[in-house]
Amino acid sequence: MRTVADLVDEGVAGQTVLVRSDLNVPLDGETITDDGRIRASVPTIAALAEADAKVVVTAHLGRPKSPSDTQFSLAPVAARLGELLGAPVKLVPHGADLPNLHEGDVVLLENIRFDPRETSKSDDERAAFTRELIERTGAEAFVSDGFGVVHRKQASVYDVAQELPAYAGGLVLSEVEVLKKLTETPERPYAVVLGGSKVSDKLAVIEALLPKVDSLLVGGGMCFTFLAAQGYGVGSSLLEKDQIDTSRKLLESGKIVLPLDVVVADAFSADANTKTVPVDAIEDGWMGLDIGPASVGEFSSVLAGAKTVFWNGPMGVFELAPFAEGTRGVAQAIVDSSSFSVVGGGDSAAAVRALGLPEDGFSHISTGGGASLEYLEGKSLPGVAVLD
Ligand code: 3PG
Repeated sequence: MRTVADLVDEGVAGQTVLVRSDLNVPLDGETITDDGRIRASVPTIAALAEADAKVVVTAHLGRPKSPSDTQFSLAPVAARLGELLGAPVKLVPHGADLPNLHEGDVVLLENIRFDPRETSKSDDERAAFTRELIERTGAEAFVSDGFGVVHRKQASVYDVAQELPAYAGGLVLSEVEVLKKLTETPERPYAVVLGGSKVSDKLAVIEALLPKVDSLLVGGGMCFTFLAAQGYGVGSSLLEKDQIDTSRKLLESGKIVLPLDVVVADAFSADANTKTVPVDAIEDGWMGLDIGPASVGEFSSVLAGAKTVFWNGPMGVFELAPFAEGTRGVAQAIVDSSSFSVVGGGDSAAAVRALGLPEDGFSHISTGGGASLEYLEGKSLPGVAVLD
């Protein structure tokens, strides 16, 4: 796999380089609430600009239906990227011609998904769009650095790498190296912490991980389906009835560790009445929105002895203060452990920053939620495979 360092060594001054980054950040209106993915994308872009390339960055935001979905504009992202690079980054409107670029300039194309051919299932449609993209930008080389999107077979991720000399960016390289270590040579004991709302979303990764790990700690909304599989009542907590049998089979592995207590509420609200109850005492009309302190203690003692930890998915509704302590406690236990620890993207990475935990307390915080889970499931990632 050729890398961005190879491209810089070959000499890239004056060349137009198309960089695919994943700048899909959470927004509150036009305010970026977590800029982790933008910060992680800066080193590759900066290395190319410093080597005097003309850098054209392309990225998506959300899943827009058409260019008139202006809430999906990358304008706030262009502004933040410019701040981090220390030089303004012009946003090139959807379909517009590029400005005249000078060596070291960086521009960002408007949301690449404004054109539906980007995500089309038709190879021909994506190929036509790819050719247009290359012509429009005048790109002579392609750098794939959007790790969060490499599990998508999309034009700016996959097809373009077949049309231009393609190189792996620094972020893609470092993410793949860490995930390789987790799958090929994890030091034991290896503990995985999974949260999030649905068992069905995580089923494939649970099945792939169970033979490889020593313990799998389950919190978040998905723990209630496992608790139901053990015969407990779960009140009005999240429950996937059609996954109860599957969950029961997974429990037979003996490796799944479930919460001992949960924080329940009488409404899904920060102002709801709340109480902490043992998992066998969840009353009707109450919903579990976080794991309780005894569970944090139980999970922490497993994590304290682990040599490798992978964490994906919050333990509760951490965005609401009364239900943040489970996620905070488990994250702190990972920080306090001396393990090689990987946070698997998405909500868990956002939780680390939102809860004010030290980012350097983890060995690696991935920028890819879906991508890292698919890698751990053993699936091939199209955007990486195409670089090989
Ligand atoms: C993500 O947020 O997981 C990536 O940016 C991919 O986005 P997608 O799930 O809309 O393809």
